[in-house]
Amino acid sequence: KGTLAVLTGGGDCPGLNAVLNAVVKAALGHGYQIYGVENGFNGLIKNRMKLLTYDDVSGILPRGGTVLGTTNRDNPFKFAHIEKDGSVTYTDESETIVKNLAKRGIETLIVIGGDGSLAIGAQLSRECGVKVIGVPKTIDNDLPCTERTFGFDTAMAVATEAVDRLHTTAESHHRIMILEVMGRYAGWIALHSGVAGGADVILIPEIPYHLDAVAKKILKRQQEGKMFSIIVVAEGAKPEGGEMTVARIVKDSFEPIRLGGVGNKLAQQLEELTGIEARSTILGYLQRGGSPTAFDRVLCTRYGVAAIEACIAGNFDVMVSLHNDSIGTVPLQEAGGKPRSVTPDNEIVQAARSIGICFGDEE
Ligand code: F6P
Repeated sequence: KGTLAVLTGGGDCPGLNAVLNAVVKAALGHGYQIYGVENGFNGLIKNRMKLLTYDDVSGILPRGGTVLGTTNRDNPFKFAHIEKDGSVTYTDESETIVKNLAKRGIETLIVIGGDGSLAIGAQLSRECGVKVIGVPKTIDNDLPCTERTFGFDTAMAVATEAVDRLHTTAESHHRIMILEVMGRYAGWIALHSGVAGGADVILIPEIPYHLDAVAKKILKRQQEGKMFSIIVVAEGAKPEGGEMTVARIVKDSFEPIRLGGVGNKLAQQLEELTGIEARSTILGYLQRGGSPTAFDRVLCTRYGVAAIEACIAGNFDVMVSLHNDSIGTVPLQEAGGKPRSVTPDNEIVQAARSIGICFGDEE
């Protein structure tokens, strides 16, 4: 019927293999040949791809990571070469990609990735005429044009379990326990796991916090006889008028990556302000590792099959998406746009406020 290629790009994320499982089985079932590209766009540039069979995807559905490998370093339009003296030069390798695809007769490229990989896919489509179909991946759940990215449900479940476990130490030691979660510039993981785990305070990038408001909430709990407090803080949360101190900056290849730390700083500040012992835990890559939840496995399967259906329908330059629990497609050119943030009028934020959860912006 035709020849396709599939790649996984950007940071690893629970469900990548589940999407691959669905994409490959649906493609083969419809009579396509499908190449798996190694290590994201790097494999397209270096011409590292192989034809996939049912055996290649057998048993991978529940496994974390990606059997194809991935990297978030290689942008074909600005491909970095490290010279012997350590300096970096950049070349445009998009034509190399077009040639490598043509050599194998590949007509359509399926890009499973987050904002960066989808933006590259959109550019390949726009400027080089490659037929691209995107699948929205990220634990951050912040891609525009879809209600859900795969991986988010799993990250949220891991973070919720962490909140539950931190409760034990918080209660026993009468401490403030802080959990710092990922999400980059968005607060979706913090919001959902904070509500699910029964946090007392949730701090997200979209709602700048006042330290005093957080301390007030904790001291009020103490007066009421609740001798511990749980705070979930997104890595990108920032105080009112302050900078986002620690969100990882992953934009470009060789910039240093700044690790988390907003939680540690907060623990120190709150301990000084309240006199209550405080501890912080950075959940980090545990949120991205391991097996996807049942919800993510089903979503990944739906997304993977939808990508092949889009291909059959000749519906290119699109990303598969979820709206009102229905799978559809949206223009790929819009999919790498401005991240979808939590808005202050978000229904879950409002519900959380109604049950007394503090966001640090209270009077
Ligand atoms: O976008 C997913 C994500 O895990 C963010 O939540 C986090 O800030 C970032 O990636 C970390 O990326 P890296 O793998 O480059 O450390």
